[in-house]
Amino acid sequence: MAYAKEVATRYCETIQDRIQSGDSLIFCGQLGTGKSHLASCIIRAAIEAGRSAAYLTVTDLVIEVRSTYCSGSKVSLKNILEAWIGVDLLVLDEVGQAVGSEDGWLLFHVLDTRYRRQRPTVIISNLDPERLERCLGPRCMDRLREGGMVVPFTWSSWRCR
Ligand SMILES: Nc1ncnc2c1ncn2[C@@H]1O[C@H](COP(=O)(O)OP(=O)(O)OP(=O)(O)O)[C@@H](O)[C@H]1O
Ligand SMILES: [Mg+2]
Repeated sequence: MAYAKEVATRYCETIQDRIQSGDSLIFCGQLGTGKSHLASCIIRAAIEAGRSAAYLTVTDLVIEVRSTYCSGSKVSLKNILEAWIGVDLLVLDEVGQAVGSEDGWLLFHVLDTRYRRQRPTVIISNLDPERLERCLGPRCMDRLREGGMVVPFTWSSWRCR
């Protein structure tokens, strides 16, 4: 736990540099271990530093994208994706929750475009790093690891204490 807290604290203290360099983080681990909680502290640090930051789950992303498929949709797929790709810091939660056939290309598109624009993403997943790599694919994981790090959350849930 100390390691995760230390990584997040250091990330928050150097938030401008981390955003400038596009340094991503991968929080992996058991249910209830505080991954979303710690990521929300990073969002807060980014906003307090005057940067834009957002929290999104993969399910939210897929629902938003599917809503553009109906003919009466006032929002285009491009605009929806641009909103999430354009934010300085994005926390993408619940990665590895299978939500349909779209999630593969969608996640790659969002993560790869953010990588090319040098914008950091905090990925949160209940999968271990090996299973996460199988889920996202090696190309996504390779991009996320560049300048970033994998932080394991291995202790028991805060919810049952
Ligand atoms: N360091 C901590 N001390 C005490 N409570 C904590 C701590 N970190 C998180 N919590 C609390 O534990 C609960 C679970 O935290 P959180 O939702 O961030 O876990 P999670 O790892 O994202 O879980 P899941 O994988 O199920 O999404 C929340 O109620 C949160 O406020
Ligand atoms: Mg969570």
